[in-house]
Amino acid sequence: MAHAIVIFGASGDLTSRKLIPALYLLHRKQRLPEETVIVGVARTEYSHEQWRTMLGETTARFTGEAFDAATWNNFAQSIHYLPGDVKNVDDMHRLAKFLPEVEKGPACARLYYLSTAPSLYEAAIENLGQAGLAVETEGARRIVIEKPFGIDRATAKKLNQVVHHVFQERQVYRIDHYLGKETVQNILVLRFANSIFEPIWNRNYVDHVQITVAEEVAVGKRGDYYDTAGVLRDMFQNHLLQLMMITAMEAPARFEADMVRDEKVKVLRSVRPMTGADFARDTLRGQYLGYRKEKGVPAESQTATFAALKLSIDNWRWQGVPFYLRSGKAMSCRTTQIVIQFREPPHMLFSSNKRMKFDANRLVIQVQPAEGLQLHFLTKVPDAGMQLRMTDLDFRFHQKFGGGLPDAYQRLLLDALTGDASLFARSDEVELAWGIIDPILAAWQSPAAPPLEQYELGQWGPESSTHWMQEQGREWFDVCPVLKGPVED
Ligand code: BG6
Repeated sequence: MAHAIVIFGASGDLTSRKLIPALYLLHRKQRLPEETVIVGVARTEYSHEQWRTMLGETTARFTGEAFDAATWNNFAQSIHYLPGDVKNVDDMHRLAKFLPEVEKGPACARLYYLSTAPSLYEAAIENLGQAGLAVETEGARRIVIEKPFGIDRATAKKLNQVVHHVFQERQVYRIDHYLGKETVQNILVLRFANSIFEPIWNRNYVDHVQITVAEEVAVGKRGDYYDTAGVLRDMFQNHLLQLMMITAMEAPARFEADMVRDEKVKVLRSVRPMTGADFARDTLRGQYLGYRKEKGVPAESQTATFAALKLSIDNWRWQGVPFYLRSGKAMSCRTTQIVIQFREPPHMLFSSNKRMKFDANRLVIQVQPAEGLQLHFLTKVPDAGMQLRMTDLDFRFHQKFGGGLPDAYQRLLLDALTGDASLFARSDEVELAWGIIDPILAAWQSPAAPPLEQYELGQWGPESSTHWMQEQGREWFDVCPVLKGPVED
């Protein structure tokens, strides 16, 4: 079947860094439907050939060894460019005339990809509607919308209204690239394709869950944007809550978009709202030293570049099991991991050795960069009496399957092209996620705010984060840069 992918904001970074390399790699693997054309739209004046040449250079850079000039030249024939402004309805009418000239067949399905500045989303959607580009008379018409989807619940709701005025929900694909990561999808497989994890995946066996998305990078050139967003909007509303939903959700009856999303939405609905003193007790915020000197950041900025939240999920499975979510920039290393910390055994038989510290079992889901799983358990040290030591079963994707894992955009672009929305956020999901983040953001502007603590670059956030966990009788699992064996006594 013929497809057209129309990228708005085509001259931007996302297009050259992620979208075109992903499409090229899909083409190389012969996964991209054969009759696919790509049309870039942006205000800059380029000819088709100029844009292809520029993309050839960036794709070579971003795909490294996977780049092959002959394959690229073949792929590049399907790339076109139309200068245009999404705010200008006449330009959209021009696009409507242009597309049939390059599409391979009248029933061509179209995927519009909004990769513009978020402030242009509403205008772009309205003008797509005005130009008749959303109407499905022959082929399907779908739209992918990049994050951020609004800056709070009210703006997300308003954007949803604009979207629904032009597109039906089934045509809309709100992207969160974390859902395209192989290891995130593997959490569903781990939980629901095996029979040994699900029976213990609950309050009877789990003490708490830690979800960490640590980044080594600082804000870099994005100071302007970042200072208006901060870590809660940039990482929690989307990526961390998505990881929490996937970890905490019930099994859907079938692996179908709405069934999966119904279960995820139930998790968000079960998150206990914070009030009063909760904000100071259950949230932490930090800012790395030097942040205020970053380009585009005001000298007095109060924006958090680190946060930790303790969330409670009020349902039968998770009652009393805290979910600790933590993310920050300029931290010790890049690591995204989910730790399922199991309870200690009810009775410790081997506790005669006072120096021995017993660690309870732990399942570490390493989302990136050392993609894999590690199950920690106690073993008897041979020939040492009844001395015990934590050891692990260690699974790494690259060891078992070889090669690297594909970038998230390959999977997500292909799913959007073929109309599978399972790994995309639904309108209610996005609004509910903001409903969790908004009150925290508001409390952080009020006297209920926890102090904004500074932290040195290359730390696991402010020191208070370690103390905060210790006061709750717990400890962050900080392992860097890849999973090593658990700490031994
Ligand atoms: C983006 C954020 O959504 O995710 C960035 O805007 C962040 O600030 C990035 O660096 C992290 O993504 P990944 O895939 O590198 O973990």
